[in-house]
Amino acid sequence: MKRRLEPELMEDPLQAEVYAAADFAEADSLMLQAFNEAFPEVELQGPVLDLGCGPGNMAFRFAERFPRCQVIGVDGSAAMLAIADQRKKSRAELIDRIRFLQGIIPKVRIPAGPYAAIISNSFLHHLHRPEVLWGLISHYAQPGCQILIMDLYRPDSPQQAQGLVEKYASSEPEVLRRDFYHSLLAALTPDEVKQQLATVGLGELVVRKTSDRHMIIVGQKS
Ligand SMILES: C[S@@+](CC[C@H](N)C(=O)[O-])C[C@H]1O[C@@H](n2cnc3c(N)ncnc32)[C@H](O)[C@@H]1O
Repeated sequence: MKRRLEPELMEDPLQAEVYAAADFAEADSLMLQAFNEAFPEVELQGPVLDLGCGPGNMAFRFAERFPRCQVIGVDGSAAMLAIADQRKKSRAELIDRIRFLQGIIPKVRIPAGPYAAIISNSFLHHLHRPEVLWGLISHYAQPGCQILIMDLYRPDSPQQAQGLVEKYASSEPEVLRRDFYHSLLAALTPDEVKQQLATVGLGELVVRKTSDRHMIIVGQKS
């Protein structure tokens, strides 16, 4: 099945609200677990860049798990960042260590770093030109920077995509089911990602499936 693009930004306030209210705890903790497994010796310290941060799910998790890191979350959607900022207000203990920045990637001006880690969850499949993400990583990741990208991967057919929607989102609101389906159709495959990484000189990153719908792209910048 060929990739079918979806809009990059999630700008509709209802879409953002439903996304933020959804329970992604299982997938989100898989990402944190993958980070801990990939970098077991590391007590992450310093700035962390979260690309396509949405309402901040991973930004908050990383800030909680690693008390010596400061997370900068970047997203182009005002609706998503309004929720992220609202959440921040109720997390007084994290307020000084999380910052959200609104702007379209790759045009947005991102602080230069150096970053201890660059993370991104469920963002890659939104990009019409995935090379944008690899370009940012090449630009902002200095040697030693830990990189973890998690995303959906594309199933073989629309029927398989629908099957995953039924399996994991049967009782979710229609907006979320629709977005999940479109995201699966827009996602890349692990082989496509491997080819792209080799082309841009990021072949040191490992691409691995972690569930029947998720893959991670992980490694340390050499
Ligand atoms: C599915 S959400 C993922 C949110 C979050 N990372 C999480 O873990 O839940 C994808 C986010 O990427 C943002 N996004 C997509 N393309 C973008 C771009 N070119 N520039 C900035 N943000 C973008 C969308 O607005 C949306 O908030």
